[in-house]
Amino acid sequence: MSTPDMQTDQTNDGAPAFAEDPRARAFAAANPVRPVPATGPVDTTPIALTPAAADLDPLWKTVVEETRARGSDIHLPISLAFAERLCRAYPEADAELVRVTVLLHDTGWAHVDESRILSEGFTGDWRKAAIRYEHEAEGCKVACRVLPGLGYAEEFIERVCEIIDGHDTRHVAYSLEDALVRDADRLWRFDQAGIALASSWFGMTPDVYTDRLAAEIIPELITEAAVQMGTADLARSNALLKTGVIR
Ligand SMILES: [Fe+2]
Ligand SMILES: [Fe+2]
Repeated sequence: MSTPDMQTDQTNDGAPAFAEDPRARAFAAANPVRPVPATGPVDTTPIALTPAAADLDPLWKTVVEETRARGSDIHLPISLAFAERLCRAYPEADAELVRVTVLLHDTGWAHVDESRILSEGFTGDWRKAAIRYEHEAEGCKVACRVLPGLGYAEEFIERVCEIIDGHDTRHVAYSLEDALVRDADRLWRFDQAGIALASSWFGMTPDVYTDRLAAEIIPELITEAAVQMGTADLARSNALLKTGVIR
């Protein structure tokens, strides 16, 4: 079941430079077994059963406008619920860092040219599209704007930005917290709401999109808990949407 470091070996767009980063090397060396085994309980029930906790509601209130771009008012709450599950499966991670970062990671989409999101961000070589880098940089600006007023320390905010910066365009994780953010960012897509939104972004029918989730996104997941959650969610979604028949 376990494989060598797929995240560093399966890169195809300049990732070797990232893989040489000392943080990437340290994380890879500390976690030679992939997907990374869970040390706590893994919950694979439907994500709607465990919505995100309410303690970050004041932070949500500061970024309501930012959530209105690119379906983030659907993506971010679902990904935060997955992030909280992942943090319970990996209790050694800094859960506050993971949760705050997931909540904010895509708020930058609200500060880029909306017409370019679909034209550049989801077509062709979309992982390298300039607008992807821009939404990461803008997301860091949002974090630096809203977090100090809520009492977060400068050092904490720097760690949030370190993960937001590159969350789409860098293929290797720099830390366990970075890995959990990446997995939470992907897991929402396996939920029916994620399939509905993301398949339309990519111009795919649900059956084609769910096939892609199984073939391309499950192998990208870094942690074993995320693999279990994504696999269980995808099976439920495929049955509900009858993707085996409507194709
Ligand atoms: Fe993103
Ligand atoms: Fe995202």
